[in-house]
Amino acid sequence: MEIIFATHNLHKTEEVRAILGPDYLVRNLPELGCPDIPETADTLQGNALQKAQYVVDHYHLNCFADDTGLEVEALDGRPGVFSARYAGEGCSYQDNVLKLLGEMHGKTNRKACFKTVIALILDGKQYLFEGRVDGRILTEQRGTDGFGYDPVFLPDGFDQTFAEMDATTKNSISHRGRAIQKLKTFLMEHKK
Ligand code: IMP
Repeated sequence: MEIIFATHNLHKTEEVRAILGPDYLVRNLPELGCPDIPETADTLQGNALQKAQYVVDHYHLNCFADDTGLEVEALDGRPGVFSARYAGEGCSYQDNVLKLLGEMHGKTNRKACFKTVIALILDGKQYLFEGRVDGRILTEQRGTDGFGYDPVFLPDGFDQTFAEMDATTKNSISHRGRAIQKLKTFLMEHKK
């Protein structure tokens, strides 16, 4: 089955392809020649639907999109839906991580979670899938793999950050991994 994943992010594309496996031909936005899609909603669900709907409207193809937020308890849930531009428009992953470490300086409550919402539009109908992983924000960065906040996020029950783990382990417990598993189960059931 061929399906569009509405992202320019190659890390995410690789994660999703690894989880969905060879039965799915996943094409992303660069492969479609699609420009960046605005994310202007104030919820993860709204942004995911906005991106998926854009592809359906412009390319008339079945599509799914994700949106992810890091919610930090001591920061009242920030950066949340603004995780990508926490340190300002056009900022880098490193800018965001440094801002987070700065805001968390001296805080003893380090609890945080990643949440992902995936919006699928299949044959004109909308479906939503959610995934979550709980963990803690470290006081310094560890590891070089992954992307985004991975070097400072230690998932509960593990002693490696997402940036120290191999991709298979991250995918098996991560917010996006869990949401994609739900999507995969749905697509397999839907095919029957
Ligand atoms: P997006 O809008 O879904 O791309 O996610 C918002 C931001 O969350 C991204 O720019 C990353 O900084 C961060 N993010 C998303 N997924 C992950 C992940 O798996 N690990 C670490 N950071 C992530």
